[in-house]
Amino acid sequence: MWKFKNPIRHAIPETRWPSADEVERSLLFKPIKVGQLTLESRTWVPAMVPWRATDDGFVTQDNLDWYRRFAAGRPGALVVEATGVRDIPSGPLLRIGHDRFLPGLKQLVQTVMEASDGHSKLFIQIIDFLSVKRRPEREKYFGRFLEPGERHRRALAEVTNDNRWFSAAEKEVRSYLNAATDEIIDHVLSKRELESLRFGYRESVTDVDLPHVRELPQVLPDIFASAASRAREAGFDGVELHYAHAYTMAGFLSALNDRADGYGGPRENRARLPLEVYRAVRQGVGDDYVVGVRFLGDEVIAGGNRVDEATYFGIEFARAGFDFLSISKGGKFEDAQQPKVGQAVYPYTGQSGYECMPTVLSDEVGPFGRSVPLVAAIKQAVNKAGFNTPVVATGGISTFEQAESILQHGQADIVGFARQALADPDWFVKVRLGRGAEVRRCTYTNYCEALDQAHRPVTCKLWDRVELDEPGIAAVDDGRRRLLAPVWKA
Ligand SMILES: Cc1cc2nc3c(=O)[nH]c(=O)nc-3n(C[C@H](O)[C@H](O)[C@H](O)COP(=O)(O)O)c2cc1C
Ligand code: SF4
Repeated sequence: MWKFKNPIRHAIPETRWPSADEVERSLLFKPIKVGQLTLESRTWVPAMVPWRATDDGFVTQDNLDWYRRFAAGRPGALVVEATGVRDIPSGPLLRIGHDRFLPGLKQLVQTVMEASDGHSKLFIQIIDFLSVKRRPEREKYFGRFLEPGERHRRALAEVTNDNRWFSAAEKEVRSYLNAATDEIIDHVLSKRELESLRFGYRESVTDVDLPHVRELPQVLPDIFASAASRAREAGFDGVELHYAHAYTMAGFLSALNDRADGYGGPRENRARLPLEVYRAVRQGVGDDYVVGVRFLGDEVIAGGNRVDEATYFGIEFARAGFDFLSISKGGKFEDAQQPKVGQAVYPYTGQSGYECMPTVLSDEVGPFGRSVPLVAAIKQAVNKAGFNTPVVATGGISTFEQAESILQHGQADIVGFARQALADPDWFVKVRLGRGAEVRRCTYTNYCEALDQAHRPVTCKLWDRVELDEPGIAAVDDGRRRLLAPVWKA
């Protein structure tokens, strides 16, 4: 995990929890319109991948139980984890790229509806991503993956001062490189090849030499539109298009996108595909369905988008007709740490990853509401441009006081609680009843995120070893971790 040079350890802020009467008068627990829908409160559980789907992307009983547990807390809205729009294998992540996924997704909707007694609205986040391979063993890379060509031979001849490399057998080139120093390898391999060797092969939207990447603008609008229509058919209240973090659509929005085909370069071009995808989705689901977007207020990488770009995107998204704007931050591949051999690069290990899920080991600003100024700037600009599209703020928000103050100051319209809801899915119901003092407070040390990184079922350290002898509970790791927070006995 990335760390500040001289980190300051912040304590979880003390807070005064409101009485049920205060809650009644609060903005946080007042309804808000999102598109044609009304959320009962301005509370929101953002998407969190729990690693519970089957290897083929189907909904499992564990998925149903996971969302049932969140729904029992009755947040205003609950967003289902990033769900793949294509019909391609993607490990135990949910998928929505084919009708065969519909029965499981319908069951999920039904489960949430019953558990929240219709009080929580349910959205699903839909995502496209490009190929990311594990970091290869050096022998494998030079023995099989590298395709030695004229360029490599020329560079080898140059660096060794030996023209013999122009005619040397391919096997010899491979074996020489395998044993060569980093300095020689740096000289011979392209930037892209070096990245494949040291981090694992990874595609990006600028790899227009790859036909399937070049054609993304032609295929993605229909793929997203079909997925969104399927979400509607399954009964979800709306879809959230995932334009954030390290994935395809964020790649198009990124300031690093220099595609020369009209879909990269100036920000108008970078927004083009995201808007085309939106229009296709909208056409598919109709005007009366909620279509929102999650995108980055700041990419937090060298040369990446900052808040002024994000503000531009926010206004254009609102103008196009998105029903909500959910702001995240960072979470990019570009500054991720080098993975171990055999592991894939994880986009939350660099500074941008820190900003996405900030911990208590921080700078002087600390992790609590760290993104709020960014969100406020975007909201202000969107409102000034004449749009009242609700804006969702997330990131280190865990107390009623903090959430209510954000709303009272007009910094956001809705407040997202991701890790705090994982730590205590009953946060919303406890606060509503005036029993906030009973909330299990998230400590923001990212045990859950480490599980996500290891592609293991996500749980919270505050409850996954509690009451393990409870009859009938679902557990993992030979029964050492329970999969769900214990039921709150109100
Ligand atoms: C285990 C885990 C999985 C996550 N999965 C997603 C995801 O699927 N999509 C997404 O947009 N954000 C994802 N996030 C980021 C959260 O939605 C949220 O933006 C982040 O945790 C910061 O908010 P918080 O401080 O309230 O936790 C995930 C976070 C965690 C901890
Ligand atoms: S594991 Fe840690 S950071 Fe994650 S939800 Fe639990 S207390 Fe919060």
